[in-house]
Amino acid sequence: MVKPRRVWSGKPRRSWSWTLLTWLTTWSIFFLLILVALRIISVTNVNVNDKGKGKTSSVLSKPMRNSQIGDQRGERWVEIISWQPRAFLYHNFLTKEECEYLINIAKPKMSKSAVVDEKTGKGVKSRVRTSTGTFLGRGSDKIVRNIEKRIADFTFIPVEHGEGLQILHYEVGQKYDPHFDTFNDRFNIENGGQRIATMLMYISDVEEGGETVFPNAKGNFSSVPWWNELSDCGRKGLSIKPKMGDAVLFWSMKPDATLDLSSLHGSCPVIKGDKWSCVKWMHVYEYHT
Ligand SMILES: *[C@@H]1O[C@H](CO)[C@@H](O)[C@H](O)[C@H]1NC(C)=O
Repeated sequence: MVKPRRVWSGKPRRSWSWTLLTWLTTWSIFFLLILVALRIISVTNVNVNDKGKGKTSSVLSKPMRNSQIGDQRGERWVEIISWQPRAFLYHNFLTKEECEYLINIAKPKMSKSAVVDEKTGKGVKSRVRTSTGTFLGRGSDKIVRNIEKRIADFTFIPVEHGEGLQILHYEVGQKYDPHFDTFNDRFNIENGGQRIATMLMYISDVEEGGETVFPNAKGNFSSVPWWNELSDCGRKGLSIKPKMGDAVLFWSMKPDATLDLSSLHGSCPVIKGDKWSCVKWMHVYEYHT
């Protein structure tokens, strides 16, 4: 049988050392509380912004802080444009410096843009796409790597699934007729599988025209706040007006992994000024460059 413990009863016998210990403890706690109140000691050492300094930086912490972005013209925030297609507008995704840098390194390398030939899978010149463009190798320099990492952070698609950035230039009258970013041939899906999503970044302002238009989008095209500023072409669908630093993410595949026919999109002819954009195509699997 277990003997029941003796229960303390009556007045505590206070020894001299016991009293001293109580005093010391009480004053120590009091002193600590003062330090905490003066923020000399931090109780919770969790600093969200220090997390993810390495490879796995989180979207919610670092990139949202304007002070770290440098010459940021405005706050970075995401606007839901449409669910059919799934299209989202990232305001102030790139800085002005990044935009200017991309244009400057692309400028000397621009050549006539091509489209993919349905039968051969090879790039061919076409009247539906009249811009000029060039590819920058994936991870080709620090600024490019920075941008590519930001794209991965905001799309939740790893850097390794992306093609190199493509820089595009449209002068007055130049356009890209509505098309899908997905492939119809076997040749082009050998590397990385189908294209799943596209990040389309505007690296210049366009005075007039040059909108990104989604003619198959479901919904009220005229409900966008910038409706009155759109060209005739822009009014033929759900449109986004290019603004330097903004980016559009849209998905070519639905969550059930079938192709999304509402992702049909085009670049309206530039009417005034010129348009520079930067495209990141992302694949279902890792894309080897
Ligand atoms: C579309 O949106 C515009 C602007 O919000 C509105 O005036 C118009 O009535 C809407 N059209 C339809 C068919 O709902």
